[in-house]
Amino acid sequence: MTGVRQRLGVGMIGGGFVGRFHIRSWLGVRDSDVLGVVSRRKTTAEEAAALAAGIGVGDARVFGSVTEMVADPSINALWILAPNFTRIEIMEEIAHAIETGKGELVGIACEKPLGRNAAEARRMLELAERCGLLHGYLENQLFSPAVVRGKDILWARGAALTGPPYLARAAEEHSGPHMPWFWEGELQGGGVLNDMMCHSVEVARFLLTPPGAPREALTPVKVTAHTSCLKWQEPRYAAQLAARSDGAVDYLERPAEDFARALVEYRDREGKERVVEATTSWCFVGAGLRLSMELLGPEYSMTVNTLDAGPRLFFSREVSGAAGEDLVEKQNAEMGLMPVVSDEESEYGYVGENRHMVQSFLAGKPPSETFADGVNVTELLMSAYMSAEQERTIPFPPPGLESFVPAVARGEWNPRK
Ligand SMILES: NC(=O)c1ccc[n+]([C@@H]2O[C@H](COP(=O)([O-])OP(=O)(O)OC[C@H]3O[C@@H](n4cnc5c(N)ncnc54)[C@H](O)[C@@H]3O)[C@@H](O)[C@H]2O)c1
Repeated sequence: MTGVRQRLGVGMIGGGFVGRFHIRSWLGVRDSDVLGVVSRRKTTAEEAAALAAGIGVGDARVFGSVTEMVADPSINALWILAPNFTRIEIMEEIAHAIETGKGELVGIACEKPLGRNAAEARRMLELAERCGLLHGYLENQLFSPAVVRGKDILWARGAALTGPPYLARAAEEHSGPHMPWFWEGELQGGGVLNDMMCHSVEVARFLLTPPGAPREALTPVKVTAHTSCLKWQEPRYAAQLAARSDGAVDYLERPAEDFARALVEYRDREGKERVVEATTSWCFVGAGLRLSMELLGPEYSMTVNTLDAGPRLFFSREVSGAAGEDLVEKQNAEMGLMPVVSDEESEYGYVGENRHMVQSFLAGKPPSETFADGVNVTELLMSAYMSAEQERTIPFPPPGLESFVPAVARGEWNPRK
């Protein structure tokens, strides 16, 4: 069902935290409506559908299953926004519905990470290709206006006159995920390395890649990484996690890393070294989520820090209102000097990403980020886990990558034992 279409009806699978981000971003997306939501919990689907209708981005209905959404002729594309451990079952249901003639789709977009490990990510790609679907890997940071504009200008002026950049740094840090399943290595696929370094390695690679050049312009050759559990294995913090999850999350026995660092060495087409340095943590207690990126070249540099970009508010100690996330995602305080991220859906890149995915699907063209990119990101992350476990630099691609499952995802990682 490819070819040029006028308007794209989209169904959302998962109506949780990121589902709401995507729906709100649709205010900046043209030629498309959010027409359906499926969620494991019906109440979240109802809330997400009401949000879509309420802000005027589509008369979204709650569907009983993924298959029903595939079967509905008004739905042309699906966005997979459910937890990591549901990826394969959802993609298999989509493939089965299409292959048994229940309905047709143009494309499918999937949140990060594409899979919990390389085998799962590759399975997602295989199923999408087998059904002849266009596929988009949802890596919002590549579409953040600061990244897009900064990269364009830096390459057009600094790199054109003095040579390409050689080092990109990216960090994503906050004080810990909002739902218990993220904390469990087996459900999520790992700890913060899997959860957030997927963003950092990809946005840093993107910044180092010449504008318009394919991914193959840079070849990964080595990965060196370190992981640790700096905060959440301390008994009083482990007790907090247990209390928030009815005892399911046990960081004394089965922690996941809350800090990770990786160096990915690339070669460009002339054989020159290009370096990505990524660091992520769930133990950063600042105002809220902080994304930082840097790109360094021979005569220029660029820096982005999402907490420095917008207005700053000050509240005296007399202002002691309710806790919330009205200033910034993963907000940690309501008093003192606080930064505001004024338009999170746009500034984090969701608007640009969804606009691009919709326009690509309408034109019948593959988006700039596909499931193949998601596979490569997963392979880099799995190599980083191998490096951290073996405490050595790993030549890329390492043997056994396709079947590798990190110790933390097997429930066997505990640095204190
Ligand atoms: N791009 C980003 O920065 C970003 C941010 C947050 C989350 N994410 C990713 O988005 C995905 C969802 O994260 P979240 O924070 O929204 O989680 P969440 O737990 O807040 O929401 C998950 C939603 O999926 C639903 N769900 C669970 N199992 C399902 C199934 N089998 N079929 C359909 N729906 C199901 C739940 O009912 C819930 O509505 C994860 O893969 C996560 O890694 C990306």
